[in-house]
Order: sequence, then structure tokens, then C-alpha cells
Amino acid sequence: MSSHPYQDPTLPIEQRIADLLSRMTLEEKIAQIYQIWVIPSVPESPQKVKEYIRKYGVGSRILAGSHLAGSAQERSAGVEEINAYQRVAVEESRLGIPILHARDVIHGFRTMFPIPLGMAASWNPARVEEAFTIAAREAASCGVKWAFAPMLDIARDPRWGRIAEGSGEDPYLTAQMAVAAVKGFQGTDLTDPERVLACAKHYIGYGSAEGGRDYNTGEISDTTLRNIYLPPFQAAVQAGVGTVMSAFEDLNGEPASGSHYLLTQLLKQELGFEGFVVSDWASVIELVNHRVAEDNRDAARQAFNAGVDMEMITDSYATHMAELVQSGAVSLERLDDACRRILTAKFKLGLFEQPYTQPGLAEEVLFTPAHQAAARKMAAESFVLLKNEGGLLPLNKTGQSIAVIGPMIHQRTALLGSWTLDGLSEETQTIDEAMRAAAPQAIARRANDALSDEMVRAALSADLSVVFVGESNRSSGENNNIASITLPPGQEELVEAVCALGKPVVVVVLAGRALDLSRVARCADAILYAWHPGSLGAAALADVLFGDTAPSGRLPVTLPRSTGQIPAHYNFKSTGRTFDGVGHGDSGSYPERNRYADLPGAPLFPFGFGLTYTTFAYSDLRVSRGEIQSGETVEVQVTVTNTGARPGVEVAQCYVQDCITSITRPIRELKGFQRVDLQPGESKQVRFTLGPDAMSFYGTDQKLHLEPGKFKVWGGSDCRAEMETEFWVK
Ligand code: GLC
Repeated sequence: MSSHPYQDPTLPIEQRIADLLSRMTLEEKIAQIYQIWVIPSVPESPQKVKEYIRKYGVGSRILAGSHLAGSAQERSAGVEEINAYQRVAVEESRLGIPILHARDVIHGFRTMFPIPLGMAASWNPARVEEAFTIAAREAASCGVKWAFAPMLDIARDPRWGRIAEGSGEDPYLTAQMAVAAVKGFQGTDLTDPERVLACAKHYIGYGSAEGGRDYNTGEISDTTLRNIYLPPFQAAVQAGVGTVMSAFEDLNGEPASGSHYLLTQLLKQELGFEGFVVSDWASVIELVNHRVAEDNRDAARQAFNAGVDMEMITDSYATHMAELVQSGAVSLERLDDACRRILTAKFKLGLFEQPYTQPGLAEEVLFTPAHQAAARKMAAESFVLLKNEGGLLPLNKTGQSIAVIGPMIHQRTALLGSWTLDGLSEETQTIDEAMRAAAPQAIARRANDALSDEMVRAALSADLSVVFVGESNRSSGENNNIASITLPPGQEELVEAVCALGKPVVVVVLAGRALDLSRVARCADAILYAWHPGSLGAAALADVLFGDTAPSGRLPVTLPRSTGQIPAHYNFKSTGRTFDGVGHGDSGSYPERNRYADLPGAPLFPFGFGLTYTTFAYSDLRVSRGEIQSGETVEVQVTVTNTGARPGVEVAQCYVQDCITSITRPIRELKGFQRVDLQPGESKQVRFTLGPDAMSFYGTDQKLHLEPGKFKVWGGSDCRAEMETEFWVK
């Protein structure tokens, strides 16, 4: 029988927290706003951490080997070790408040799914939710109850290494992925031992870093912040995300981790976020580096009063908060508010009732055939077919010889992508292995293909070549920015040399970002963009290249013609004048963006684009009503027909333009999409519902506007959709 009300699971959480807070000392409350780190390089760290926990308890413990956890595989702590720390908190501290163990689980735990940018390319929220459900199941079986994902940063600059970790350039697509990830991680009942707390990050505007250089300053207008960068976080909050992580960068003059406007006014008050905010790594004390804080005490005061409820790994809260509260620099109400938010998460997770992880569970859960099958499907759906001259793809498994060449064919770790902590390279099949397994007779006798001259020779001896190029997983992720988005040195030359042989060439690109494929596109007959596809990526590539699965991915980011064309995102504004001196005007067709004198304005491949092994046609685009009152919804309907000879999945997309508005708005914005599976000759009607949120925007007054007037609507297969209709809001 529980001795205190807070230990009684039959009582409402609010009542349990009120009872617990009333019993906590100031130091015990301060311990809850601390995420402690057992520092791997400090031998006495484990003992000191246990002493602290025994004395005060602790809010959370991060399972990370370094500040760049995402750039290197590292073994997680074992369940026994995690349970041992938990026992100190639950059985040896005065109040027995359990620890919340946290880890970066970004695109899988042991079964690695494609990088999030690749998962976004599937435009399949249901499949993405399944991926995060599996990641949660695997992570929870290893004692992790809080995952630092999904990353929701809108990225418009592919030089930025962390574009790999988000869902691309569009607010609506990223918002759908946000909901999928939160639902996958958290489920509908957080006490489910297979679920974990999610974390929407990095709030906010982190992807706007100047020049795509990580940690750089972000300068965006408040309307761009609210209309472009905020929607994914709004969606995550509405989906019930338990935590938010504050970003490193300074945005519009304020460090994101020290901004009361961003963290309290916008996130907690306007959006109604009731979970808790954790700093990103040392971003609290980095207020000193930003030169807005004198010292760590001042940094702690500013960050905490701004709205950062928990400090990750650094101890400025643990060191200074008692004095800050006693001096009145921080109010006790604010401390209780932060504790309440954190304790609410722990009660919702059921940690008080089930603080320990069952040993041995992981062996039954990790990397099961079912998880591998899901990862293989997810990877296949992430691939984007950019070119397929003469229907070269899919390839035949017999009757022809195929040279499988390129620097990526023996890679394992590179396929896993950045932020792969627990995925095992040794469990990752190589492309060469997968291609041979899929079509043993077809793969040309492989000379020593380590050298490019040997690769060209192999190509010459075969009927056709598949050249696997791309970048290392080390070229993406945190602090891995590149100045030029071309393929790594020598790869374009290799592709051109193979193409010069005059035989059919397929190029497969494995990357963590949008790359400039201008030279490749000029000579390759077919191009498949495969991102970093995860543990089963190689097998999925064979599935798609040989037609066991048809490609259905669509670009979540624009592929520019060159680095110089950045920014190249599709949802640009009309502007007052174009390169030719006239405006984009009212022409319904998707305009070419203002250009350079030496480069066309259109990107190489546009947002939303992707081919399949069949073709589709659109017809009969219509709206349910030509005129609606403000606040009403309008149904958009379009018919999609499979006009080819193979089954296929089309991703029907709906774009909207608010034609005349009180602030400048994008020429069009994605407001709906649907995957539709069609047999040859089959037609289906696809419907999109446009509600007030699809017609509203934030004005310079920081208020949502839904303004009367004409709205244009397009339906089609990428951002350039031509089929147009309209409706009016009265
Ligand atoms: C890193 C990253 C963040 C990650 C955290 C913990 O610096 O910015 O995304 O979750 O620290 O590893």
C-alpha cells in the first residue's frame, strides 16, 4: 500500500503532483530540472552521479557518448546499468522519484530506417508512423523512455548537414511527418511499455543558419518564422508531443534558448504547449558565448525565466538555482511550474509504477524480421526516380549482364546515415551483396572494382551499368556542412566516363541532402535518389531496381542546379520584378524564379517531383463550392488515372495560392497530398479538404489572418502542377 498520495496510481496526476511538490525541498525540485550526464571520459563520473541522485534524485539522464552523438555509432548503456541508476533514485533517494532516461533515437534504434529526409520522401505518414513505433519499441526495450526526435527544422539550404535529419523545405509536409513521428513514438497511452516520450526539435529556426553553416545566426522575419518554421511545431504540439528542445542558434537577435518570446509567449502561451522544454546540450551556458549573459549564473537565470525547463548535461541550474530563487531572481512559482511539467511527463509515462526495464526483453525485440521488413518497405518508398530514359528501369534479372560499380557498393555504415547510434554496420548488407542476391546471373563478373579504371572496364564488359555514387554519412548530420553540393571528388568524372562508353547507365545517389546532379543528369539514362536508406537500404534498392517494388518517392526538397542557386525552395514569393523586368503576374503556370544571367531560374528537379514505372494523368479538378464564408471548408477533388502499363502509386498534391493578401505570400503552398495506388487504366477521385488553416497566415501583427478574396488551387504531381481552379472567400 502506498504511504503517500503521490505514490497512489489511482489518484489523478494533478493531485499526485500537488502532493509530491508539497513534500519536495528546494534542492529536490532543482534536481528535477537537471538532465545529468555520466561523462564517459571522467572515471569518477558514475560514482558522483549516483551520489547526487541518492541525495536529491534527478530529472533525467542522457545516454550519450559525446556532444556529437549523431556522428558516431556508440553503444548505449545496457538495461542492467540503466536499472542500477534507476534503483538509486527509486529505492535510495528520499522521495523515490524515477529518472527519465533519454537518447537520440532519430531514425531508428537498432533497426535503422532511412534518414528522416528519406522518410519524408515517401510522403507516407502511415509508413513513417510505423517506423517510429518500431523505433520506440526497440528503444524502450533497452531502457530508453525519451527520444530526442522528431527534428522539425525547415531546411532551405542543403549545405547544412542537418537537412538530413528533418523533413525538408515544406511546412505542410514536415507537419504531417511531425504528427506521424509523435504518434509513432508516444502512441495513445504513454504508460505502454513500448512507447517513449517524443521531443520536437530544435525550436526554432535552427535551419535558417546563415550559409547553411551549423550554429550560425538565423535572421528571418517574424511572419516567415510563424508561417514557414512554426507549423511543424504547432502540429507536434497539437499531436501531444511531450517535450520540445530549444535550439543553439541566435534568431533575430535572441538566442533561441534564452528567448522568452519564443519559448514562453509563442510556444507555451500562444500554442498552449503543456510539456517541458529541454535545452540542446550546453545551449544554456552558451548564452555566455552569445555574449548576452555575464556568466553561467546569469545564463541559468535567463534561460530558465525564458522557458527552458530542464538543462541538458551542464549544471548551471544545479549550481545556481537555489541562490537565484532565494534572491528572487527566479520565482518559486517558475520553479514549481518547471517541476510540474517534468513530473507530469513522468507520471504519464507510468514511471512511478514501472521504473525498471525487463532484462532480456531487447533480445526478443531488436532487429526482428518484422522490423527488417518494415525498414525495407520504408526504404523502398523513400527512393525518388528522377530520370528513366526509354524505360531502362526496372532491370531484368536475367538475359543481360549488369556492372554494379561505384564507390558506394561495398559501404555499410554510409547506408545507415548520420545519427545512427545503435544500428550495427555488421548487420547492414552492402549494395554489392544485395544486387548479387537479387540477380546472381545478371551481375557481371566483378574485376577488382576498387579503382575507377577497373570500374570502367567492368562497365565496358557488361550490357549496362548501375553506378552507385554519393556522400559519406559523415558529410551530413550535426556540424557537417559542405560548401559545394556537388558529388564528392571524382564521382562525376566516373559517371561521365561510364556514360562515354555508349551503353545504358543507371546512377543511384546515396546522400543526406539535396545534391547538384547537373553533370550526372546530362549523361545518365536513369537516376534514382536513395538518400541514406538504413539497415535494409541495399535490399530495398535491389527490390526497386529490378521492379519487385515500384518507386513512389517524391522530392521533399528542391534539387538545385548548383550551389550558387541556393536558396531554391519552391514556395518563393511573387516579388515585384523578375530578371526580365516584369512580375510573375497572374499567370497560372508555375513561374521560373528570378535567375542569374548564367543560370536558368528553375531548379534541376522541383519539390514534389518523382517518376514511377508507369504514368499518370489528372483530370476534372473541381471545388465543392466556388464561394464560401470565412471559416468554412472547401472540398477539392481531382481524378487521377494510371495511363501506363504497370501498377503504380501516385502522390497527388494540392497547392493553394491566396491571391491578394495584406502581406506578401508564396506563389503557392502545399496544402494536401495523398498516395493513390492505381492499376493500369484505373482512375480514382482524390479529395482534399481545405479548412481555415489552409487559408490563414500570420500577419505582421502576429495574428492569424483569413482574408476574403480569391484562392487559386492546383492539383498535380509536383509543385509545378498546371491544372488549376479557384474559389472565393467572402
Ligand atoms: C546535439 C544535437 C541534438 C541532440 C543533443 C543530444 O548537440 O543538437 O539534436 O539531441 O545534442 O545528443
